[in-house]
Amino acid sequence: MKSSHDTNVTGQFGPRARAYVESAVHAQGADLARIAEMAAATRPGRAIDLGCGGGHVTYAMAPHAGRMVACDLSDDMLTAVADTARSRDMTNVETARASVEALPFADGGFDMLGCRFSAHHWQDVDAGLREARRVLKPGAPALFVDVVAPDAPLLDTHLQAVELLRDTSHVRDYAIAEWREKLARAGFTVATVTTWRLRMEFPVWIARMATPATLATAIRVLQDSAPEEVRQHFAIEPDGSFMLDMAMFEAVAG
Ligand SMILES: C[S@@+](CC[C@H](N)C(=O)[O-])C[C@H]1O[C@@H](n2cnc3c(N)ncnc32)[C@H](O)[C@@H]1O
Repeated sequence: MKSSHDTNVTGQFGPRARAYVESAVHAQGADLARIAEMAAATRPGRAIDLGCGGGHVTYAMAPHAGRMVACDLSDDMLTAVADTARSRDMTNVETARASVEALPFADGGFDMLGCRFSAHHWQDVDAGLREARRVLKPGAPALFVDVVAPDAPLLDTHLQAVELLRDTSHVRDYAIAEWREKLARAGFTVATVTTWRLRMEFPVWIARMATPATLATAIRVLQDSAPEEVRQHFAIEPDGSFMLDMAMFEAVAG
């Protein structure tokens, strides 16, 4: 039997839970500092991290929250987050295994939401964003961070291709305009969009997902045959390292 997309996601991420806890790219960043700052200003009674992965948003928000819920599809990720929270004496962290597209929480039960590097894996991002809005109190802050696609189709197609070859659970990196439209449709008001670029070191990027050698080679072939516009935009280096476009959407639940 063919596996479902959600099984593909847990199959890809489960065995790599520790790698995501330890990943420097995931554990650091001005975006995490901003999420912590927003949590400190909000002091949420109950906060949620959607698609928590190795839990870096959870660890940023938990010190400022009453209760902190780390939510993910992968049991292995949730075990890694529970262990790490315990080792950091974050006693207010609890975990929930759920798909963002069908959250097992009542309407309006959360005071703040963080969601980082997860939405590009969701099968139905509109449903996930509707659920995010539903579980928040009106007026609650929600911060979404993800890789974003450049507007030019030439660049967009290259990005989605290398992402899918590297990780077969990739669905789509959305463009900023798509994010804005989707957030508005889900009932969020976007207050601020911050953009930056992040360098992916090719061997580390491939190793984190344990990309099969044939697919890693296919990415290198694609990069080598890419037109100059693509090579320049992604600043592709001789070893395949390159730059990704990132964005943080600071939104408010309507
Ligand atoms: C790259 S990791 C997240 C990184 C983490 N948020 C951070 O800031 O370091 C992506 C996570 O999204 C989770 N995920 C993907 N699709 C999901 C869905 N539909 N519902 C819940 N979690 C999902 C995966 O299991 C994975 O753990």
